[in-house]
Amino acid sequence: MMNVALIGLGSVGRGVAGMIAKKDLGITITGIADSKSGGMDPNGLDIASLLASKTRKGYCGDKKISASDVIAQADYDALIEVTPTNALTGEPAIGYIKAALIRKKHVVTSNKGPIALAYKELHALAVKKGVALRYEATVAGAIPIMHTLEHGLAGNEILALYGVLNGTCNYILTRMAAEGLTYEQALMEAREMGYAEADPTYDVQGIDAAIKLVILANTIWGNGIRLNDVDRTGIDLLTPDALRLADDEGCTIRLIAEAIPRKHILRVSPRIIEKNHPLVVDGTLNALTLETDMAKEITLIGRGAGSIETASAIIGDLLFIKDRYVQRA
Ligand code: HSE
Repeated sequence: MMNVALIGLGSVGRGVAGMIAKKDLGITITGIADSKSGGMDPNGLDIASLLASKTRKGYCGDKKISASDVIAQADYDALIEVTPTNALTGEPAIGYIKAALIRKKHVVTSNKGPIALAYKELHALAVKKGVALRYEATVAGAIPIMHTLEHGLAGNEILALYGVLNGTCNYILTRMAAEGLTYEQALMEAREMGYAEADPTYDVQGIDAAIKLVILANTIWGNGIRLNDVDRTGIDLLTPDALRLADDEGCTIRLIAEAIPRKHILRVSPRIIEKNHPLVVDGTLNALTLETDMAKEITLIGRGAGSIETASAIIGDLLFIKDRYVQRA
């Protein structure tokens, strides 16, 4: 059995809590917090009633208990940190993650801010404390890209990567091309379905995809690149006419992130590509092509956003930690 504390009860947090409650994973939630309240019980919290309270009242627990209280005081093996991304400071999530690592707790996060901005420092702290810091859910939703890099492609040199890394933009582009929706209508749908970031300008201006590119590049090459190093153009100025023109040529438009170290390319931009290209995926799908020395080209496709889809990546990380490190009866 592994005890976890869950910080953040937005779309991802609710998905994680729901799946832990539903599936027999050997995971117990002993601490929980949203932005307004928290709860702790070393014997396990009643998830169904916390989620019901969140839906009914807008908060899950006791307003006198904060996320920091839960992180500092609850009895848990791993912290699940799924608060919204802040790409400027990474806070408050960086502070939450540090506090847990200092307590020698493992950390699993879907939060892109801390990993893009402070990975080196957080990773060093985790190593020093002998615990794991895992972030599969930060990039490409349900696609197990980090596990693939770490295990399946171990020993390969990664020469380049190309990907559709933002589900919201992909959904908008797909809906605009297929249904003739305006950009605003398609964005509204993506927000209603819980795919977009709390601040959707992160999605449509290509910031979210650029952050994911930074996380991937640092994971693969450890080259310390930052968000400002990425050449970035979003889809917010794209017109239905541009999509129609591409369509006339048998093509479509996708927001493509690419990192090609040998050419010094690090870029996120809308690209006109042929409809039968492997990176032309629909809706909230993400796609990621890795160019490697031994395996050659590998393309992974899967759901890039969504509550349960992202929970899949988080639960994969939790079970990895449980198998490798946690030995509770
Ligand atoms: N807003 C993000 C996206 C969520 O649309 O891809 C997953 O990181």
